[in-house]
Amino acid sequence: MTRKLAAGNWKMNGTRAALSELQTLADAHPAPSVDILICPPATLILRAADLLAGTSLRIGAQDCHADASGAHTGDISAPMLADAGATAVILGHSERREDHGETSEMVRAKARAAHAAGLTAIICVGESLAEREARNTLDIIGGQLAASIPDGCTAANTVIAYEPIWAIGTGKVPTTAQIDEVHDFIRARMIRRFGQTEGGAIPLLYGGSVKAGNAAEIFATDNVDGALVGGASLTAADFSPIIAALEGSA
Ligand code: PGA
Repeated sequence: MTRKLAAGNWKMNGTRAALSELQTLADAHPAPSVDILICPPATLILRAADLLAGTSLRIGAQDCHADASGAHTGDISAPMLADAGATAVILGHSERREDHGETSEMVRAKARAAHAAGLTAIICVGESLAEREARNTLDIIGGQLAASIPDGCTAANTVIAYEPIWAIGTGKVPTTAQIDEVHDFIRARMIRRFGQTEGGAIPLLYGGSVKAGNAAEIFATDNVDGALVGGASLTAADFSPIIAALEGSA
């Protein structure tokens, strides 16, 4: 059975004061039936991982460099993230693709680095509004999957997040039929490439304006194994009901 995952992406939000939210969240979910991961900014990873050692919460990162070390001012490598206590890293988020010109080929190199460092790679794909309106969604997603995902992916080391760009931070959410169509497509591609056992079990997350009020409906959709949550992951009060909705989904 595919693992379920409630993942929070804090983006460029949070100072040490926000660590108390993690403690509150861990206290509220001492023995969850789903995996819980929070990806705070890099400055908080070490402290967060120390704070949450022995709890059910895992800490992840939001990006990594493709190399393990070297002359790359300002960058952080996958082994460094693992050393700081991260167990996963988000790669190819649309904000990275847009703000930093990350191509799918770069994302694939980063995913390889993540795997080599023992991190779970959470690889993001998603179409723009213009691409959806031009009815190109599946072509775009198919191309991103083919180019962003390295060989050797397993259900243990890889998670795919479908994040329509037009739904991120906008309050706009696709219909469940639209989510269903894309997630079925991604599942079929994963099975074709990695086989039924691994491809059939790679967790597929939906991301984009997931909130307590829409989580249960989204989690009831076929091939949705969890969510990648931005704004609503910043406080325990907002994220906790989303975790509960995932636990309650069949
Ligand atoms: P949002 O962000 O939940 O704030 O829409 C989702 C994401 O970018 O992962």
